Amino acid sequence: MGNKTMEYKLHNTTNLYLERVRSHKEAYTTEVLGKEIIVYPNVMSPKYDWSPRFHIENMPNQKGKEFLEIGCGSGILALFAAFQGAKRVVAVDINPNAIENTKANFQKYNLKNFNILESDVFEKVEGKFDTINFAAPYHGSKPKDILEYGVSDPEYRALRLFLKNAKSFLKDNGQIVLGFSNTGDLDLLNTLFIENKLYIKNFKEEENNGWKAYLYVLEPIKFHRKKQEYIYDDDYFWFKKYKKEIILGKVLKVGYGLGFASYFIKLFNKDISSLDIVVNPDSLNGNEVKTYDGKTIPFLENVFDIVICTYTLHHAESPEALFEELCRVSKSKVIVVEETYKNFFQKIQLTFFCWFTNRHAGQRVNIIWNSYLSSSRFIGLFKNKNLHIFQAEDVSRRSYLVELLAGREER
Ligand SMILES: C[S@@+](CC[C@H](N)C(=O)[O-])C[C@H]1O[C@@H](n2cnc3c(N)ncnc32)[C@H](O)[C@@H]1O
Repeated sequence: MGNKTMEYKLHNTTNLYLERVRSHKEAYTTEVLGKEIIVYPNVMSPKYDWSPRFHIENMPNQKGKEFLEIGCGSGILALFAAFQGAKRVVAVDINPNAIENTKANFQKYNLKNFNILESDVFEKVEGKFDTINFAAPYHGSKPKDILEYGVSDPEYRALRLFLKNAKSFLKDNGQIVLGFSNTGDLDLLNTLFIENKLYIKNFKEEENNGWKAYLYVLEPIKFHRKKQEYIYDDDYFWFKKYKKEIILGKVLKVGYGLGFASYFIKLFNKDISSLDIVVNPDSLNGNEVKTYDGKTIPFLENVFDIVICTYTLHHAESPEALFEELCRVSKSKVIVVEETYKNFFQKIQLTFFCWFTNRHAGQRVNIIWNSYLSSSRFIGLFKNKNLHIFQAEDVSRRSYLVELLAGREER
């Protein structure tokens, strides 16, 4: 998982930052957004880092909220949550100096209803919160001392634990606020969002001094009907198989459905357009899908580098004609995932299962007996267009197959 082709190491601006923080042997103060903040030695310092200011300016207002902060450092973010009127603040850190530092800042401002404790991520946390905040260390390298836990999270262990467990400390309709950076492993971060079924509700970024700070507001994905989570897991299963193809280039996704596959693709490649014949009200980012008549793709020839169509051809009146359209608008690759059969009984089974799954997922789709494809008819689509098949995978589901074929035209 993650984009780990080389050892994780610190960004070049981070070493200078650490040097400055280490130069302090006594407590000192700094001012952020008009408030004086005490900073202890060996604690992450807002004096030398602009990102806490960016984080405070962009995090959702905490008035009346119960706020949990993982990794509080000097306590600056938890303090501003309290200044905004949070009704309860719990702040934890793995660094004992950070705990003393945060307590000193809360006492300085005579704040009430706070609880500050040493904890490895959620280890000592109890209860549920409206907001769970983590300005995460950006790097995955090994920290040399307790201060460096502020910049380095070995192999992103804390980040993984945070994203995996945050949901169980979140109230209904609660939000996760995560600070990260372009200097961290974004491939891993996006993969963790998908695997933990988290949706990016809001995203902000700011660039300064040669690097970008990111702020994500995340919410657990809501599955409104029984089979929607099954579809999510299945879409992710296939996404992992074609992911390497969609990282670069202009992508078209035909058949938006609940929007899960388009959401996954968009995390890795912003240049994606999506089409469907209807917009399902339960879909993720339903405003991003364009509707069309299911026959003529409303784009010119060769506009896209990759065209992807999953579980959709068999809902078209003529899968051949729709496939022809997929090829027309793609200048390079066409990727299709389809349920296919090899005999009559498999066809009955897959047609029933397709109807059943869509019904229980709240997807209103056409069930057209003649549009389900046998395996040979499916492969024939690619052969007839002289597409060189560069990836083929099949997975047995019940007795029929789900196949992925990816083809590129020989030019
Ligand atoms: C990027 S700093 C943010 C500090 C502070 N919130 C700020 O914005 O200035 C990350 C903080 O996470 C803490 N941390 C790292 N790993 C942790 C873990 N496993 N459990 C709890 N806190 C951790 C570090 O000690 C550090 O204080």
